[in-house]
Amino acid sequence: MKSALLEISYLIGSVTFIVGLKMMGNPKTARKGNLIGAAGMTLAILGTIFLFEKKENGMVNPDYTVSGLVYALIFGAIIVGTIIGWLTAKRVQMTKMPELVSMFNGMGGACAALIGLMEYHHNLGNPGALSAIIAGMVIGSVSFSGSVIAYLKLNGTMKKPVRLPSYNILNTVVMILTIAYGVWMVYNSPENSVLLYGLFAVAIVYGVLFTIPIGGADMPVVISLLNSFTGLAAAFGGFLYDNKIMLTGGILVGSAGTLLTLIMCKAMNRPLSNVIFGAFGGGDTAGAGHEVSGSIKDINVSDTAVLMNYSKKVVIVPGYGLAVAQAQHVIHELETILEDRGVSVKYAIHPVAGRMPGHMNVLLAESNVSYDKLVEMEDINPEFATTDVVLVVGANDVVNPAAHNDPSSPIYGMPILDVENATHIIVNKRSMNAGYAGIENELFFNPKTSMLFGDAKDVLTKLVAELKSM
Ligand code: TAP
Repeated sequence: MKSALLEISYLIGSVTFIVGLKMMGNPKTARKGNLIGAAGMTLAILGTIFLFEKKENGMVNPDYTVSGLVYALIFGAIIVGTIIGWLTAKRVQMTKMPELVSMFNGMGGACAALIGLMEYHHNLGNPGALSAIIAGMVIGSVSFSGSVIAYLKLNGTMKKPVRLPSYNILNTVVMILTIAYGVWMVYNSPENSVLLYGLFAVAIVYGVLFTIPIGGADMPVVISLLNSFTGLAAAFGGFLYDNKIMLTGGILVGSAGTLLTLIMCKAMNRPLSNVIFGAFGGGDTAGAGHEVSGSIKDINVSDTAVLMNYSKKVVIVPGYGLAVAQAQHVIHELETILEDRGVSVKYAIHPVAGRMPGHMNVLLAESNVSYDKLVEMEDINPEFATTDVVLVVGANDVVNPAAHNDPSSPIYGMPILDVENATHIIVNKRSMNAGYAGIENELFFNPKTSMLFGDAKDVLTKLVAELKSM
């Protein structure tokens, strides 16, 4: 009876994961989708704690017994984990989200690795179980140490990519060694714990070597890849325990992580191999592409206000700088004022604007911008030709025409927002400094472009005040 109820709770949990994921595909339902998935996970955790029964021949630790002390430890850990997770997630700024995701992902990898370390000795001589244990442990360890490095790179502790001599060859050798060591452990199942911990250590080292040469700015892609590793490691745990929800959850994380990685690479027009083995984003390629020359024109806040006030259609292009400046609320205020005066306002959303997938959508949703105002790149591009003013706020690479017309540029081929087709282009940023790709932007030298220099929040606040006084 208990085990039937447990299976039902797993079934409900699995369905909530799938429904929740689907709902996360749309900003309107994303929050609810997240809660539904979390509710399903809570049900599955409680089911496992209270309804789990040891099966004959099951691959579970034979010493498994549940006492009052075990419950106290489990709930103690859950409470401490929940408090830490809740507080960190509450406090984190939107621009620091990739760091948080990488830390949480690392914890998942560590859990999968610990399962492997715990269960190995209970399954000696059983290659079926050992292959799931060793695969989960190795992949989980790589994901753990890789995520810790990604975290340190994103928070600026490790600023420069570290490239050991012939690092691509070295990494490949260590990867092959780790796999061979793992296969050997499965087929020989040595009792000696030192050999098990040796494999654990090698996998941890591989995770560090894999992540350390990659530039900090490429970390979102790497985190998404490591995320899929963690999912895979959890799925191996599901095989091991014959636990359907762990399997479903792991497979969903694994496949979603893989898809996200590929989507990000496609939106940046870079193969994954280039992210992992290349140097882009680490500052090494800064200055690549053609030299851009010409003169720039700047504009002040009051002229911008006049131009916008008398426009019919304005398109705002939000970028990373908008997020850094935390200007999402004031941009919404600007949009409301213009709309009240009969100007149509839309936001053009590039798939990799900002530093993580969906960055701009989440940021603008936070300040209650209506979802129907957010227009995806493919849909907004044909509209620029009929746009009076494009206001680019803290975006750079995603509007760089070099992607269309400079084959030597590292972003050549990346789909961009065709803001050049609008009548007037106003670009707000603090200086002429490059964006993430480290390259110059000829858009700033376009005769139709006017530069509105300053911090996004400052400038937009002044612009709103100016418009109010008109
Ligand atoms: P970027 O090209 O990085 O440009 C951001 C610009 O914002 C900078 O040029 C900077 O110029 C300006 N800025 C910074 N702080 C500002 C502030 N306080 N006020 C006003 N402006 C400020 O950003 P983007 O156009 O959003 O492009 C995103 C880039 O990140 C792409 O190259 C993309 O491939 C990459 N990337 C994205 C993702 C995802 S999934 N979103 C993942 C990995 C990589 P100043 O310093 O002159 O102010």
